[in-house]
Amino acid sequence: MSYAPEVRERLEKDAKEIIGRYPKARSALLPLLHLVQSEDGYVSDDGHEFCAEILGVSKAEVVGVSTFYTMYKRKPAGDYHVGVCINALCAVMGGDEIWEQLTEHTGIGHDETTPDGKVSLERLECNAACDFAPVMMVNWEFFDNQTPESAKQLVDDLRDGKDIRPTRGPKRLCSFKEASRVLAGLPDDQAGEGPSAAGASLEGLKVAKANGWKAPEA
Ligand code: FES
Repeated sequence: MSYAPEVRERLEKDAKEIIGRYPKARSALLPLLHLVQSEDGYVSDDGHEFCAEILGVSKAEVVGVSTFYTMYKRKPAGDYHVGVCINALCAVMGGDEIWEQLTEHTGIGHDETTPDGKVSLERLECNAACDFAPVMMVNWEFFDNQTPESAKQLVDDLRDGKDIRPTRGPKRLCSFKEASRVLAGLPDDQAGEGPSAAGASLEGLKVAKANGWKAPEA
């Protein structure tokens, strides 16, 4: 099976725009994998074939890349892909406990999706937000300073279709497919919304400014 003609036509238009940003077409493979993931919610067999054809590379090469990176899913992710950081700092601050309670609460494990297709879970290794540990992400937006209770409530609210806002970043939480389209390099104009750095992340900067410290000259 391959994409319906109207889907293919739409994907080709977006793919050509993305490919045009690179000196060599094959360099566009990573964003194109996000593009097909934005269509199917994972990198499907059709997605692999589409990338191979439009880039003029073999399907084996495409599969070799897509199966290397964990951000490319091999089966459909939920509308809300929930990541729990279980790397060292988050783990000791409660990430391990959040993961344990969340998997028990939802009945799903790593890279699995709830039967209603709403939520999938993933163990993440550092979200680069350690000063807000323990941190979770939903479709790559931050949910800081979580507890097992807040994590379970968050997932229940997502499944109930409630209006959820990330701790930082945009006011609206997009779907996994929409987030994949942004990662393909086709922005939704929400990237600049809301605070990015905040709280503990800025403490060192404040101390440096108060003391007149500067980075050494290169
Ligand atoms: S260890 Fe969890 S965000 Fe860095």
